Amino acid sequence: MHITIRQLQIVEAVVQSGSYSLAAEQLHMTQPAVSMQMKQLENNTGIVFFERRGKRIVLSDEGRGVYHYSRQLTANYDDLIESIHEVKDLHRGRIKVSAATTANHLITQMIACFSKENKGIKVALKITNRERLVQQLQNFEPDLVLMGEPPPKLDLVSERLISNPLLVIAPVDHPCANKSSIPFKHIAQHEFVVREEGSGTRAAIELFFKERGEELKSTLEMGSNEAIKHAVIAGLGLGIVSLHSIKLELEANKLVILDVNQLPIKRYWHIVKRKSKRLLPAAKQFEDFMIKESKEYAESYKHFMQKRG
Ligand code: PGA
Repeated sequence: MHITIRQLQIVEAVVQSGSYSLAAEQLHMTQPAVSMQMKQLENNTGIVFFERRGKRIVLSDEGRGVYHYSRQLTANYDDLIESIHEVKDLHRGRIKVSAATTANHLITQMIACFSKENKGIKVALKITNRERLVQQLQNFEPDLVLMGEPPPKLDLVSERLISNPLLVIAPVDHPCANKSSIPFKHIAQHEFVVREEGSGTRAAIELFFKERGEELKSTLEMGSNEAIKHAVIAGLGLGIVSLHSIKLELEANKLVILDVNQLPIKRYWHIVKRKSKRLLPAAKQFEDFMIKESKEYAESYKHFMQKRG
């Protein structure tokens, strides 16, 4: 017995439309082609599927007896086609990701690992400060955003990934470099090199000082964490930066983390998207990857925190 998916699709279209001509139109076929396929199906199965009731074509008793299975097959076929498209999209996909300036190292590490496993997927990355990330989210620009606290007023879905501790950094020969449990009030008297307005890190530091009744004294304002690190190494002031932005300098012994009471300032990385933005499979894959792999990234920083006791 030979039955084709096309023949079952015709059966379904005739059931839905009640007419051979409408079914032909729906399937982009000619009516004689539809009639011929139905004749072949009936000859091959020995079943008469349809009968005429006035102007309408309806299932016969025999046809009704098998239609359920026929419908199941066509539905499975539709699912198969859908999943083929999805798999194709996944391998050819393009993902638009934006990340906070401070998350530069984290996001590039994640993309590097992801790209090794998913060679066909292109990731377009934009790195910018928190203020600009919020604007991008407002305009539905990126698929996914890696940022600090998600802004409260937008319609977002977010998932907390890992902690992002903000710490006081100083040159290795700073008088406080080897001291432990330095009172925050003492450190607050120093001058700081800070990020630009619009930076999430800067906003978090300002809030932290304000909540403790201290004024943040800043000597220099810089547009990147790289510039802050250089300025701190050069002795132009202390800095408060994310642990995730100073790995290389700590390993090369160019900077130290000061052991200040009440610090680190606790912040977290989140993966964020607009609620109504449907992620294509490639972006979904990257989101799942971030949720899983960022934990390992956090592990690789644990010993820096343990060293501080
Ligand atoms: P930033 O954002 O790079 O703009 O400082 C980081 C954050 O919000 O924690």
